[in-house]
Amino acid sequence: MLIENGVPSFVPTSVPRALELAEIPGIVSDYRRAAKNAIDAGFDGIEVHAANGYLIDQFLRADSNHRTDAYGGSIENRTRLLKEVMLAVSQEIGGGRCGIRISPVTPANDASDASPQALFEHVASFLGTLSLAYVHTIEGSTGAARDFQQGEVPFDYMALKKAYQQGGGHGAWMLNNAYDRALADQAIADGADLIAFGKSFIANPDLATRLKQNGPYNTPDRATFYGGLAAGYTDYPSL
Ligand SMILES: Cc1cc2nc3c(=O)[nH]c(=O)nc-3n(C[C@H](O)[C@H](O)[C@H](O)COP(=O)(O)O)c2cc1C
Repeated sequence: MLIENGVPSFVPTSVPRALELAEIPGIVSDYRRAAKNAIDAGFDGIEVHAANGYLIDQFLRADSNHRTDAYGGSIENRTRLLKEVMLAVSQEIGGGRCGIRISPVTPANDASDASPQALFEHVASFLGTLSLAYVHTIEGSTGAARDFQQGEVPFDYMALKKAYQQGGGHGAWMLNNAYDRALADQAIADGADLIAFGKSFIANPDLATRLKQNGPYNTPDRATFYGGLAAGYTDYPSL
């Protein structure tokens, strides 16, 4: 983020390139070291970002992963980086201090795949083996429609949770995207353990209190979302 004359803007970035095969072990060890550094710095745990078209998600999806080596092609291969990273961080700091964020159908940053169900059930089943603190799933299109679909059938999030549990997973099942209190209560009744709130937390510094007493809520101001300045971050009123 760049601030020019008080106006925030995004900075240009380099054109992405495919990682060389020889570079991948270094990437995995970067994740391992970052996890260790976080714990050394006093954090309780870390969340690996495998969602929204970021690096691990780019490897997962057939439409962005064009590799012909051991990290491309089959689901087994496309999930290899995620598995290596999750094994590294959970061995380093303990699975109970690790979570992961996934977004099976979001088109964020051009993420796309024709068969997300098979792909993410494979991922969930593997995650079940790691004794993680939680798995954090974004439903639908991140920051947009919860019912957004990709692939040939509506995505079955219950089946995803089942695959995680059948893989041995007992960690909390966290959901995100466009939740309000009523929708969150319903999701918990349907078997979720945790709900992640984004925009409503930005706009309500005391969101937990407001949720407990069922409102009222400040309305998020989209104009200041990516601001990088105090406006929109530290000036929403508490109750
Ligand atoms: C200002 C802002 C910045 C965000 N930055 C990220 C990000 O860097 N990475 C990410 O995965 N999601 C990011 N998100 C998405 C949120 O984590 C969340 O998934 C999304 O807002 C949906 O949840 P909500 O409806 O409760 O806000 C961002 C959202 C907002 C509003």
